[in-house]
Amino acid sequence: MIWAQDLRGTIGDGASMLWRVPADYRHFREVTTGHTVIMGRKTFESLGSRALPERRCIVVSSHPDPGWRGVERAPHLDAALEMSAADAEPRWIIGGGQLYAQAIDHADLLVVTTVKLTVEGSVVAPHIGPEWHRVDVAPEPSWPPTCISDPEGTWRDVSGDAAWRVSVYRRA
Ligand SMILES: NC(=O)c1ccc[n+]([C@@H]2O[C@H](COP(=O)([O-])OP(=O)(O)OC[C@H]3O[C@@H](n4cnc5c(N)ncnc54)[C@H](OP(=O)(O)O)[C@@H]3O)[C@@H](O)[C@H]2O)c1
Repeated sequence: MIWAQDLRGTIGDGASMLWRVPADYRHFREVTTGHTVIMGRKTFESLGSRALPERRCIVVSSHPDPGWRGVERAPHLDAALEMSAADAEPRWIIGGGQLYAQAIDHADLLVVTTVKLTVEGSVVAPHIGPEWHRVDVAPEPSWPPTCISDPEGTWRDVSGDAAWRVSVYRRA
């Protein structure tokens, strides 16, 4: 799973992103490009109801025929995981709050950006429990080299609205 949160764990307001940090968006693009991405319907709409280029996009929604173009619909998370079971790993859950909450028990890698901001929003990141440990090196040689935790306590330069840093977690 991959997400960006503020200092208190807020990820959104249900409709749109609450900050603009272009360098983190580039990081997201580098990490996910070439892979399957799975998202909830509200996140898809927050992206303008458009497919993310160079990624297989699966949108979870109960609506039987939403009429979307360029993406596939899955009726629930398990169906999305089954539809993509033969795809190259990693497959990424890219939000939002409902999908993260349902998917965290299936996930084995978390790539979490923290932006150095505090915002108001009702959608929050899932709890990262003791079953997760922070890793300082690329988890797999074949995975994006950007999947590396920043040293504890350090921040990357301000981009747009805020400084930011990345923490990568694997299941213990
Ligand atoms: N900061 C970040 O990294 C980040 C990343 C992604 C999103 N976000 C933010 O998160 C917010 C959206 O998150 P959200 O929690 O409100 O919504 P969401 O998880 O993106 O989408 C929820 C929708 O997904 C479908 N869904 C979820 N679970 C389902 C299930 N088990 N079976 C069938 N359908 C299911 C439903 O669609 P239907 O109603 O169509 O059935 C549901 O309304 C936005 O503000 C967005 O900007 C932030």
